Amino acid sequence: MCGIVGYLGKREAFPILIAGLKRLEYRGYDSAGVALLSSGKDLRVYKEKGKVANLEQLVAGRDLSGTIGIAHTRWATHGEPSEVNAHPHLSQSGRLALVHNGIIENYSALRESLREKGFTFRSSTDTEVLVQLIEYIQQKYSTDLPSAVRISLNKIVGAYAIAVIDREEPDMIVAARKSSPLVVGIGEDNKEFFIASDASPIADYTSQMVYLDDGEIVTIRRGKPIQVINLNNETIDPKIEQVEMDFGKMQKGDFPHFMLKEIFDQPDCIEDCMRGRLLTSKKRIVLSALQLHHKELVEAKRITIISCGTSWHAGLIGKQLLESYCRIPVNVEYASEFRYSNPVIGKGDVVIAISQSGETADTLAAIQLAKEKGAYIFGIVNAVGSSIARAASMGTYIHVGPEIGVASTKAFTGQVTVLTLLSLAIGRERGTIDPETYQQIVTELANIPDKIRKVLKSNEHIEEISKMFTYAKNFIYLGRGYNYPVALEGALKLKEISYIHAEGYPAAEMKHGPIALIDADMPVVCIATDKTLYPKTVSNIQEIKARHGHIIAIVPEGDVTIHKIADDVIEVPETLTCLTPLLSTIPLQLLAYHIAVRKDLNVDQPRNLAKSVTVE
Ligand code: AGP
Ligand code: GLU
Repeated sequence: MCGIVGYLGKREAFPILIAGLKRLEYRGYDSAGVALLSSGKDLRVYKEKGKVANLEQLVAGRDLSGTIGIAHTRWATHGEPSEVNAHPHLSQSGRLALVHNGIIENYSALRESLREKGFTFRSSTDTEVLVQLIEYIQQKYSTDLPSAVRISLNKIVGAYAIAVIDREEPDMIVAARKSSPLVVGIGEDNKEFFIASDASPIADYTSQMVYLDDGEIVTIRRGKPIQVINLNNETIDPKIEQVEMDFGKMQKGDFPHFMLKEIFDQPDCIEDCMRGRLLTSKKRIVLSALQLHHKELVEAKRITIISCGTSWHAGLIGKQLLESYCRIPVNVEYASEFRYSNPVIGKGDVVIAISQSGETADTLAAIQLAKEKGAYIFGIVNAVGSSIARAASMGTYIHVGPEIGVASTKAFTGQVTVLTLLSLAIGRERGTIDPETYQQIVTELANIPDKIRKVLKSNEHIEEISKMFTYAKNFIYLGRGYNYPVALEGALKLKEISYIHAEGYPAAEMKHGPIALIDADMPVVCIATDKTLYPKTVSNIQEIKARHGHIIAIVPEGDVTIHKIADDVIEVPETLTCLTPLLSTIPLQLLAYHIAVRKDLNVDQPRNLAKSVTVE
């Protein structure tokens, strides 16, 4: 994954690079590093294992001058997290420094061939071969940096966003991308330039940005307009976009962690997500995407949802909504499987891609594949202007604001909200939802934010419950129907931030095997908020009780039956069955959060994870 930042201009680069890395730390935090350059001085590289804060400590008292620099925060793919594997990587002579986000798949063959030519390697990363290759090409063809980068990239198989600086050409940064994101910010009168993996490190300084496309190489020179070429050396006209960002939403406020803030933000986020789309006075849903691309969506014969992780769980809920109210068959696929599966898909197919970050490499590749086969792509994305948002034929933003906690919370409920709106809107156009049901759901959707506010009042009760599970080794989450994906999502939240093994199952599947795991040491979270399946779920809970499992039940307000069976009970307000996921998810997010806090773990940046998974 990794985050890249670069600066060339009139100010000192270091503070801009460090502030930028902090904004990008969500992309990985295995190590951080910076390379600084100024005319007449050596190229200086500082790097350290761990977070950006560790790098800041390391450089105290060192020479940090320079108006050109590149920096990196790493999520390791090749080579353990360590100082030597941290970026920037230097070329053999120390002339070039390079930062990279992505994976160089043919690094092994390239490394062998460079070794034969006398190059030695210090790190175990794939990245180091690229900086060595660029230097080799520079020497062999006596060429300038932009040409050496272009020739080298033509030899690379894999994904990259890179930035390179050259001690011998100190007023220049060359950057390029393929399958990993890269944005260039242009300051006033070309006096300064910024590059970054997303717009957040740039937006404080300029709103003029260029999103590079795959296979594009940009050369940034002091005082000159940027030059973009492709891998075939053809000149590309850069498309300058106006990008504004609201950083207010990127503050923790009084909350101890972003995750808790984002959980508590959900009522407001869902209101934002529905604003202008759910017209309560008219009891209607209006989606501009549906108005613009009416035929493709309303006449869809089949829908395939592609996504990963939490977004895949939202997709599973989307399937139930779309099938119930639109009567269109829906498949939900992991993007990583879909992209290598030779899918039967083509013209007339609608593919819905769901992604919070809009940068997930597997989802992006799955979109490309579906596009090549002629499918129509509908994106449900949070990050405005992200690669997936731009790759989709049409789409709907979830508008929940930047999500900083690595464990997704408000993006999930935002995705489910958009999928609900979309299903109702398409169903109405197709005439597959009866008007009364449509009216009922539209009316109840408007009540959901307040009902979530009510669920959030259980925070202290859930914190109390969490105390008991600090030392738990395993957890099972059970749900049925609309709440089976919620069980999967609850288990994922716990795994991600508490490092407790957790599994989600459809409640009735227990008897086909997993029930063998139940004993007095097994906490089982049972979601019983679906009125239609309530009696069935009660029977499943009895089966757990009979094996002495510890039951934590999520039940509708006023429930009596399960109170008598369960060890712990969390109530949520009653709502329509299809909307229960929006409420039952909240206590599960809080439970995972409080258990992780009790274990004194880094809730916002759990180990081994990154927010934006831009490698496959
Ligand atoms: C969620 O808590 C996870 N960190 C992860 O599963 C995430 O949902 C997945 O990587 C997909 O990301 P996206 O929505 O940004 O595409
Ligand atoms: N492959 C490079 C490394 O492991 C970059 C990783 C990434 O972009 O996630 O250092």
